[in-house]
Amino acid sequence: MTRHVSPSAALLDHARRMVPRYTSYPTAPHFSAEVTHETYGGWLDRLSGSTAPVSLYLHVPFCRSICSYCGCTTKAVRREEPVRAYAADLRREIDLVAARLGPAAVSHLHWGGGTPNALPADCLDALMGDLHRRFRIAADAEHAIELDPRHLTADGARHLASIGITRASLGVQTLDDAVQAAIGRVQPLEVVAGGFAALRAAGIAAINADLMYGLPRQTLHSIEATVAEVVRLAPNRISLFGYAHVPWMKSHQKLVSEAELPGAPERIRQAALARDMLVAGGYLEIGIDHFALPDDSMARARQARDLHRNFQGYTTDGADALIGLGASSISRTPFGYAQNAPDAAGWRRAIEAGHLATAKGRAFAGEDRMRADVIAQILCYFDVDLSKTAERYGFSVDVLLPGLADLSPFLDAGWVTFDGRCLALVTHAQDVARVVASAFDAYLGQGGRHSVAV
Ligand SMILES: C[S@@+](CC[C@H](N)C(=O)[O-])C[C@H]1O[C@@H](n2cnc3c(N)ncnc32)[C@H](O)[C@@H]1O
Ligand code: SF4
Repeated sequence: MTRHVSPSAALLDHARRMVPRYTSYPTAPHFSAEVTHETYGGWLDRLSGSTAPVSLYLHVPFCRSICSYCGCTTKAVRREEPVRAYAADLRREIDLVAARLGPAAVSHLHWGGGTPNALPADCLDALMGDLHRRFRIAADAEHAIELDPRHLTADGARHLASIGITRASLGVQTLDDAVQAAIGRVQPLEVVAGGFAALRAAGIAAINADLMYGLPRQTLHSIEATVAEVVRLAPNRISLFGYAHVPWMKSHQKLVSEAELPGAPERIRQAALARDMLVAGGYLEIGIDHFALPDDSMARARQARDLHRNFQGYTTDGADALIGLGASSISRTPFGYAQNAPDAAGWRRAIEAGHLATAKGRAFAGEDRMRADVIAQILCYFDVDLSKTAERYGFSVDVLLPGLADLSPFLDAGWVTFDGRCLALVTHAQDVARVVASAFDAYLGQGGRHSVAV
């Protein structure tokens, strides 16, 4: 185990820097209302003649109750009516998008949330029927869904298999009782293990588990116990997220007692312990926060240098366009990003008025796509050939070199190397990959407040 678990003062200083997660570049704070539903419609028209497959993301912003740490765009619902009404509008949105895009080939589908298993079975069936009618879904398409294990039954898992789901992500976060009580999410090990068993019995063999560190009352001891149990359950992939405490954006996080949150040094130790245990348990590290068994498609994509980043984090999805459906979803096209109205009411008004629900976005301009590529390579592979990447987009490497000045503390300390073309992070500096990537963000500091990097 090469990882340094005793962080130096310099690493701590950098760990405290606020930088984006770079699930897009330019990042969401730089989206504006200049991108309208007409702009986005025009982008879909331009894609319509293409034979290249697209991927689809469907957002379901409902949960039975809200976990106090949650950073997702969702709200609590107890009744079925609002969820059914939302599904009906999603069907209208599928029609509106398909009318512009045409019968595109689809290589990836992803249901995210919120909790997509909040959708009643007949709504899921109707939505899948529409998607099959409107698009050409490849027989080998990956079809993934995010699930809350507290609401997953054996029948529910069989139904998901019947609509073609091939991969499911279960929100585990922690198996420690005291931490579960502090975050308002009680789900004993039996519930999580039951979710794994139900999915496997239904034939959904690819399972991801989401884990978190930096939660209130979390300790090294509780991380150790949780990771040991999760490794025994043997999910194919594991995401390990540091709790992002952003109460100025997510007001329910004010319920999280700041006095009970681990400090920066403890967060770094928790992340390092979890990573070391996962690697010892046979997982390959993928980028800054994912782990995969060696035979998983993400591990193979990492080896083949064919990994991508999107709003879900790391993905094997290399499609040119990701079409977001549902409130707050973000679409990425070769021309730019378009985000739907963030609130379900605003999104519904647009869809029911018969037009796309774009509220804001960002058209790519100038060096954006090149910088996005540099940042993605740093976060996917911890290295990047700056010269080759600049040339690929018709630029001179000189436009990227000023970024190196920001990295001089890392270069001086030997955490980052630069041989005139290639920039590479050494192993123990992977924790600061987001900070290194941010050196190539031309918009950093021009708005937006982010969570800590580690
Ligand atoms: C949409 S949720 C997962 C599905 C389902 N709703 C559930 O919770 O079981 C996606 C994941 O984001 C992570 N997450 C949520 N809030 C977070 C936060 N504030 N900081 C870091 N990760 C967070 C959690 O690991 C969560 O499982
Ligand atoms: S973590 Fe999952 S279940 Fe909890 S509020 Fe967020 S989206 Fe809903």
